Amino acid sequence: MIKGRLRVPGDKSISHRAVMFGSIAKGTTNIKGFLTGADCISTISIFKKMGIDIELDNTSVRVHGKGLYGLTCPNEILDCGNSGTTTRLVSGILSAQNFTSVLTGDKSIQKRPMNRIITPLSMMGADIKSNDGFAPLTITGSSLHGIRYNSPVASAQVKSAILLAGLYASNPTCVVEPAKSRDHTELMLKKFGADLTTTQTSVTINPCSELFANDIDVPSDISSAAFFMAAAILVPNSELILENVGINPTRDGIIRVLKDMGANIEIINQTDSFEPVANIKVTYSKLHATCIGGDIIPTLIDELPLLAALASLADGTTVIKDAGELKVKESNRIRVMCEELSKLGVNVIETDDGMEIKGADKLKGNVTIATHDDHRIAMTFAVLNLISEGEIRLDNKNCVEISYPEFFNDLKKVNV
Ligand code: S3P
Repeated sequence: MIKGRLRVPGDKSISHRAVMFGSIAKGTTNIKGFLTGADCISTISIFKKMGIDIELDNTSVRVHGKGLYGLTCPNEILDCGNSGTTTRLVSGILSAQNFTSVLTGDKSIQKRPMNRIITPLSMMGADIKSNDGFAPLTITGSSLHGIRYNSPVASAQVKSAILLAGLYASNPTCVVEPAKSRDHTELMLKKFGADLTTTQTSVTINPCSELFANDIDVPSDISSAAFFMAAAILVPNSELILENVGINPTRDGIIRVLKDMGANIEIINQTDSFEPVANIKVTYSKLHATCIGGDIIPTLIDELPLLAALASLADGTTVIKDAGELKVKESNRIRVMCEELSKLGVNVIETDDGMEIKGADKLKGNVTIATHDDHRIAMTFAVLNLISEGEIRLDNKNCVEISYPEFFNDLKKVNV
């Protein structure tokens, strides 16, 4: 069974932003609880290449920021590795620098759509050349002007790239989204002194003359905690407390949906500093099917593969819709989940913007899962391995390095 207490590593989105904003702020930003996964290390290495002194000691980071105009021209290509957040957010910053730089990443990054940022940034005056809408991106800094942008996708990466460019624009910039995406950029930029106003689905940022360093305590990542919530729900007699988890309402869809499916989840000791944080107690529960779609999708976008896996053991047929964005993540997460759950004997249908999963009593095993080098696919099937009839093997365990290097050790620790 899954027992005890666990503090999963720091939030990936907040860790990236703390390094980026710290680098373009004046003064020293001290970050505690930083995620040392490969994605966030890519962000650190990129800002080091642009002349920022960054010290990493375990999960503490000191970023010696040089202000909005302090970055220097890198003499190498900037490698974002597997990180979409790095590629898209840094593009917004680079669009306004007084040098030319090239951003690229691994095979997966070179297949992820970049026109979603190239279009709005170009409307602001940016000069970005791409490989037909894909990385590598060659970005020559320009003077930018504000725009009002109706984004066709609810994406925090798109919104954040535009807002970061908006810091440097000559007049205000407004981004309107079809549904609210995670708002870590807005919360942290405000803490660093930016002037922005928000409504439910829009953000307006005013041009900024300087950001100022601030200390950031990174909460544990709800997207990493989710794997352990699922483990405790699935394994009989389990009871687990996940400590210090970020429960920002733009990220907590997983908790809302699991409760709706009948899971026993309690939020304890909530504190609200700049991001709300709480302990989460989860006990073994029998789940029933649900329908997941609409405005809740951006609040649980990274948890949908895991929810599909849980639905495969819930009573009834679960429908996931309005989730076309899953096709352009680290892998095509709709296709991959359908193919790999089928190997376990699950009755699952791929739809245009999601999937339909018929819950079963048991999952077969004795299969090897094709992870497509996608960290969240690997962790999802590692959780299912706890309760499958035969062993579920992964073709690549190492991809968990992207967001959770200690995942398998932590799973061993709580599996008593
Ligand atoms: C992220 C936003 C999400 C999420 C990704 C991290 C961020 O992507 O899937 O893992 O840090 O802004 P989109 O906003 O593009 O959906």
